[in-house]
Amino acid sequence: MSGPVSPFPDFFYGTAWKADRTPALTELALRMGFRGIDTANQLRHYFEEGVGQGLQAAYRGDIVKREDLFLQTKFTYVNGQDHRLPYDPSAALSIQVAQSMTSSLEHLRTDYVNSYVLHGPSSNYDWTEADTEVWEAMRDQRDAGRTRLLGVSNVALSHLRQMENEGAELPTFVQNRCYARLGWDREVRHFCREHKIIYQGFSLLTANQEVLHHQLIASLADAISSTPTQIIFAFARAVGMLPLTGTSNPEHMTQDLASREIRLPAEAVDVIESLAG
Ligand SMILES: NC(=O)c1ccc[n+]([C@@H]2O[C@H](COP(=O)([O-])OP(=O)(O)OC[C@H]3O[C@@H](n4cnc5c(N)ncnc54)[C@H](OP(=O)(O)O)[C@@H]3O)[C@@H](O)[C@H]2O)c1
Repeated sequence: MSGPVSPFPDFFYGTAWKADRTPALTELALRMGFRGIDTANQLRHYFEEGVGQGLQAAYRGDIVKREDLFLQTKFTYVNGQDHRLPYDPSAALSIQVAQSMTSSLEHLRTDYVNSYVLHGPSSNYDWTEADTEVWEAMRDQRDAGRTRLLGVSNVALSHLRQMENEGAELPTFVQNRCYARLGWDREVRHFCREHKIIYQGFSLLTANQEVLHHQLIASLADAISSTPTQIIFAFARAVGMLPLTGTSNPEHMTQDLASREIRLPAEAVDVIESLAG
């Protein structure tokens, strides 16, 4: 796989929880064919500088060029960080966003990212004044050419409705943990579909173990010589999601990417959608 990413990758490789293995796993994911990389400037869960090291190794190895990649990173509020902050916590939020972005670009050794995501709003239900300030600062980063697109993560329907009601610019991406027991985040996905927002789903496997091990998924997998994990990713794509995987296993990387070729019958998609909620 090569050539410019247009318009978005169809799978994201997630770099959370990889610590010292981040450079090697990022390079491996690119070697295996991933072109979308998700990270965050949040040392508590991500080693963003290690992602940058993996990218450099891939460029040196002629695996990929910067323009073929879709790099996504995040701004994380102080309460989502540990003591290792990528900004001055006493500075205004708009300055924190600018400092965090500068640090991300240094880590990733690039002058722009493809997508910049608010890691999570400051309240679980409300889109607060702080979020408005951060979102405007993120738009400034976009207008300055430091990111192409914007997203929000860990949002409820109430956040998105409030953004809409307040006339805020809606994001290009929503990135959420996708629980099958909530109809695979049905309400948020429907809002996204209505507003042409791309829904990125994470924890598709880890949050949905009961579905992954369900007999129906096993039978569907057997019938087309695939695996239950591939059925879940194929389902996610069939309902319009852009999935993430953070596998550390090269065979699983191959399997996860191969799930892009699977077309599930419409009836199977409907049944899986309501399997747990
Ligand atoms: N915005 C946020 O707040 C947020 C929060 C969490 C995650 N994320 C993003 O989403 C990415 C993915 O995270 P995730 O929560 O979806 O979980 P994950 O870290 O990707 O974990 C997936 C699990 O599924 C397993 N797996 C993957 N493919 C498999 C296969 N083909 N067969 C069997 N097992 C397989 C992996 O095991 P193996 O390693 O053994 O394959 C791993 O245990 C993260 O790296 C991060 O970038 C974002």
